[in-house]
Amino acid sequence: MANSVTMDELVSLCKRRGFIFQSSEIYGGLTSAWDYGPLGVELKNNIRDFWWREMTQLHDNIVGLDAAILMHPRVWEASGHVENFTDPLVDCKKCRQRFREDQIPDENRASRICPECGGELTEARQFNLMFKTHIGPVEDEASIVYLRPETAQGIYVNFKNVVQSSRVKIPFGIAQIGKAFRNEITTKNFIFRTCEFEQMEMQFFIKPSEDGQWFERWKEERMSYYGRLGVRPAKLQFHQHGPDELAHYAKIAFDIQYEFPFGWRELEGIHNRTDFDLRRHGEFSGKDLNYLDEESHERYIPYVIETSAGLTRTVLTVLSDAYEEEEVENEEKRVVLHFHPKLAPVTVGVFPLVKKDGLAEIAQDIEKELRQDYTTFYDQGGAIGRRYRRQDEIGTPYCVTVDYQTKEDKTVTLRFRDSMQQVRLPAAELSNRIRDEIKKYTRKAG
Ligand code: GAP
Repeated sequence: MANSVTMDELVSLCKRRGFIFQSSEIYGGLTSAWDYGPLGVELKNNIRDFWWREMTQLHDNIVGLDAAILMHPRVWEASGHVENFTDPLVDCKKCRQRFREDQIPDENRASRICPECGGELTEARQFNLMFKTHIGPVEDEASIVYLRPETAQGIYVNFKNVVQSSRVKIPFGIAQIGKAFRNEITTKNFIFRTCEFEQMEMQFFIKPSEDGQWFERWKEERMSYYGRLGVRPAKLQFHQHGPDELAHYAKIAFDIQYEFPFGWRELEGIHNRTDFDLRRHGEFSGKDLNYLDEESHERYIPYVIETSAGLTRTVLTVLSDAYEEEEVENEEKRVVLHFHPKLAPVTVGVFPLVKKDGLAEIAQDIEKELRQDYTTFYDQGGAIGRRYRRQDEIGTPYCVTVDYQTKEDKTVTLRFRDSMQQVRLPAAELSNRIRDEIKKYTRKAG
C-alpha cells in the first residue's frame, strides 16, 4: 500500500480523469495558470461550499461578502501593498533563469552562484507582485488599477457598510471567497503557486485587548477544520513566522502547513493584523472607521484576526491527501482517492450488473431518484469490477448495483469505496442510508 503520491502521478491522474488541465494547452500552455475540468470544478466547488458553511452559516457572528476584484488604486497604497508587496528577484547572468532570492539555498545566496548552472547571479531587486492594468480607454497613470493580490482589502473597505447595514457587534467576522492575482516569479508544483488563484478569507474584528485569546481560538478552530474536511492530522502542522517572514501588516502569524509531495508548505495563514488596515484606510480615505461599543461606550479601531486559506491550494492538498495506490487481492493495484464524501465530485455511482433483461431501466430509475439528493453517475459499460475501479479513481464513495435479485425483491447492493465491502438493502432505503454514511464518515489514518 502506498499513500504518498508523486506530483507526476497526480498531474497525470488530474489530466486523465478531467480534474485539472493546463491553461491554453493547445497553444503550448501557460505555466502559471490552470483550468478546472468537469470533476475538478465539482471538487473545488464542494471545498468552497464546505468552507463557506463552516465559516459563515455555522457561526452566528460571521457574515459574508463578495467584493469586486477591481478596487480604487488608493486601497493598495493604504494597505501597504504598493510599497511592500515585493519579492527579491535575482537573475542568472549565464542561464538567464530567474529566482526568488529568499528561495535559493543559503550558500548560493552568499556566494551569488546560480543553483542551476553555477553562473553568476545579479544583485537582488525588489519586484512588486501586483498585476497592473488600466480602466477605461486611456492608458495613463490616472487610469491604473490593480488585480487584487488578496481578498481581505474588500472586507476592510466595507467594514463600515457592514456595521451600519447588519446587526453585527464586535466580536464578529466577515468572510469572503474569490479570485486573487499575484505576478509570482516562480510558479511550479502544479496548482500550488499560480498567478491566478482563489482565496477563502475571514477577517474577525475584535477589541484590541482581546487579540491574544482570539488568535489562539482561531488557530485551533482552523486546524480542526482540516480534520472535518477529511485531511489526515499527521500531515498538518503549525509553523510560526519568524521576524523575517512576517508580512508588513502582521504582528504574529502562524501558517498551517501540509506535507505536500514536495515537502511541508503553507496551506493557510492565520494573522494578527492589529488595527493596521482599518487605521490606514481611515487615514487615507479621511473616513472615521472607529467602532462605537454601545455597551461600554468605548470608541476604538478594532483589531483583526485573519484566517486566510487558498481554495486552489486546498484542492491540491485534498488531492494529495486522498491519493492511494493499493494492492487488491487477486487483482492488480487500484488507485483510489479517499475524498471525504462531502467533497467527492460524484457521490453515488449507479450500475446495472448487465444492460439486458430490464436491469438498465431499473438502475436508471434509481439514479434519477438519487439525483435529487446527490451528485450521481450512471454507467452500464464494461465489467462491473472495472466500473468500480473507475469510480475509485475519481473518489466516488458509494456505488449501487442493480442485479437479478433486484427484479425479485427490489434490493440492491451498496458498495463502499474505502473498504470495498458491500451490503444489500432495499432500493427505497438508499437515500437515507447514504445520508447516514456521509454523516458518520471518518478518514482512516495512514
Ligand atoms: N490576506 C492574507 C494573505 O493573502 P498569504 O499568506 O499571502 O496571506 C494566504 O496568502 C493563502 O493564499 C496562502 O496560505 C495560500 O493558501 C494562498 N496563496 C497565496 N499565494 C498563492 C499563489 N500564488 N497561488 C496559490 N495560492 C496562493
